[in-house]
Amino acid sequence: MSKNRYAHNPETYTEPDDDNPSANLHFTDILQARLTRRQTVLGGLSATAAALFGALPLTACGGNSDDDNSNGTPTTPPVTKATLNFAAVGHSLDDIVKVPAGYSVGVLYALGDPQQFGDASWSGNGSETAESYDRRAGDHHDGMHFFGLADDGTYAASRSDRGVLCLNHENITQAYLHAAGPTTAAGARPAAEVDKEVNCHGVTVLELKRSTGNALQYVRGSALNRRLTAASRFAIEGPAAGSARMKTLYSTDGTATRGTVNNCANGYTPWGTYLTCEENWAGYFKRATTDAARADTASLDRYGVKAGQSGNYGWSTPTGDLYRRWDTSTTPAADASADYRNVANTFGWVVEIDPFNPASTPVKRTALGRFGHEGCQPANPVEGQPLVFYMGDDSRNEYIYKFVSKAPYSAADKGLAAGAKYLNEGTLYVAKFNADGTGNWIALAKSNAALAAFASDADILIDTRLAADLVGATKMDRPEWTAVHPANGEVYVTLTNGTAAVRPQGATDAANPRPGNVNGHIVRWREANSRADATQFQWDVYLFGSPSAQEPGYNLSALTDNNDFSSPDGLWFDSRGVLWIETDDGAYTSTTNCMLLAATPGQVGDGGAVTAGGGTQTFKGANPGEQNLRRFLVGPKECELTGIAMTPDNKTLMVNIQHPGEGGTASKLTSHWPESQTNGASTARPRSATIFITKDDGGVIGV
Ligand code: FEO
Ligand code: CA
Ligand code: CA
Repeated sequence: MSKNRYAHNPETYTEPDDDNPSANLHFTDILQARLTRRQTVLGGLSATAAALFGALPLTACGGNSDDDNSNGTPTTPPVTKATLNFAAVGHSLDDIVKVPAGYSVGVLYALGDPQQFGDASWSGNGSETAESYDRRAGDHHDGMHFFGLADDGTYAASRSDRGVLCLNHENITQAYLHAAGPTTAAGARPAAEVDKEVNCHGVTVLELKRSTGNALQYVRGSALNRRLTAASRFAIEGPAAGSARMKTLYSTDGTATRGTVNNCANGYTPWGTYLTCEENWAGYFKRATTDAARADTASLDRYGVKAGQSGNYGWSTPTGDLYRRWDTSTTPAADASADYRNVANTFGWVVEIDPFNPASTPVKRTALGRFGHEGCQPANPVEGQPLVFYMGDDSRNEYIYKFVSKAPYSAADKGLAAGAKYLNEGTLYVAKFNADGTGNWIALAKSNAALAAFASDADILIDTRLAADLVGATKMDRPEWTAVHPANGEVYVTLTNGTAAVRPQGATDAANPRPGNVNGHIVRWREANSRADATQFQWDVYLFGSPSAQEPGYNLSALTDNNDFSSPDGLWFDSRGVLWIETDDGAYTSTTNCMLLAATPGQVGDGGAVTAGGGTQTFKGANPGEQNLRRFLVGPKECELTGIAMTPDNKTLMVNIQHPGEGGTASKLTSHWPESQTNGASTARPRSATIFITKDDGGVIGV
């Protein structure tokens, strides 16, 4: 997530609503976690595990190269790994993007770039009108996906020379959007400033084409170019649509809302639509100090719509319905459709956009649950089986989820009609990671007796976090992006970091084994019988983030100067099985700016049991070594690396540089990127941007 909206020291930053207050234990079986895997195998669990996870023989204990106490996990056959083939990029604190020798960087689409011909180029001084940002690049580029474009304007998965890029604008660096920074006088904010900030949020849809070689440019004036903002109309579908709790003055039947906000990570569907995920939406709403009489205070509190908060940026302060909609206050009217008391319930969803139909209304898909959504990555689709999407809820001590469609998949379905078929009906599950290396998916539905207190599936979906609290789900260290290995279907999730306050000694568990865990880790699992819709799985920790200089009990993956990292966030597998890892860090930034790494993972169980410093037993993947994990890129000052896409021919890589210089002000700039990339004497304002990276010899990226 981006952080500029909170005055903070990046190295001590903590998330809003960062402490799930529910009472369920991290694990009820911490004692069992102290047992070695060998003991649990001998105790009889191995037969169960073997039945669930395949018929391969158990590995003999002690047989792995980097651990003396293999966990004996039955593994899938080893994947055929690509071989990384570039010189690692060193740590950097410079104000430029650094890539390996033999690679080049270009800027594709930066804050303020006009999508159409009628608007002037970005001024660099904050003079653009609010209205023009309906047709310009928004701020804080985040998750994105490249869709190949056929000559007839339809989706063509294999095209690299033409495409449509969908990308999120998660947030804003308010200091740089206005000519002299934001107006800070008490009282109502200027509506024009609010309008600009609203329009700088949301999503971009943008036609791309190859220019010279494998370089990309956007097609200015394309009919496919589109901005969706925090003021656009969105339909609401799925079980919560039409619920009394979704009614607002804007949509008295609870089937629509205005705006998408804090669009963080993303996903896509096999039918060529984009999924944008609403993360830290709770902070945008005003809530009265004295509203204890309303029936849904537990829900508001659990999501972090806190009593007395004024809402990020004061968007509710100007006069008019466009602004009032950010205020959750109740009026004396009995009917919720008289005001915006329910407006926050219309945020926190996965939103589906058809990039090939600019006239279509995007849809908030309520069947996928409501939380601080990060990614929404599909499992590898199998014709005739349900479709599955993996999702993280990014706050400390939140959960990992998956959605399993009711309808079996058919590749013939297209567009938002396919979205309605697969994403409006199904089952939402939350993950429980057991200390013995197994895991369970627990259904969040009325069919689960533990959720009898909920009146309906709609209520369970609107209050997903409260439901998950009741079923013993495992509290994780901030679940960020999800990624699915293209060859074996194993699922990877970044757990970006913890704090000593939220994950102290004594509150660790096997899946979150390091106290404090300020550098984060990446967990992965294999579904039972390799069926994505299974209700059991086998997990290990693929990788632990750490400075190379840390002790072995903390630097558990034995990282070196060429591959050490902190706070993994963005995560994506390319078609060759290369895993790309992006960081959003505040804990190692005295050594290096945020970065992108390339990895070639093996599979669950390729390492073994290990005891983390602090004494908690866990299971970890084989140490990667520099052969299988290497730093590919380091970003400019005060940025986050996020969003990643690649052309299908693997020759053009796109990533986003989010909020360079986020700690500065309009009069005191702390970065001049992207202009600093080519002009070391630049005095320009920094801006978020999508960049593309090509290999100078025209070859494929990374391998
Ligand atoms: Fe927007 Fe959790 O990163
Ligand atoms: Ca983040
Ligand atoms: Ca993120």
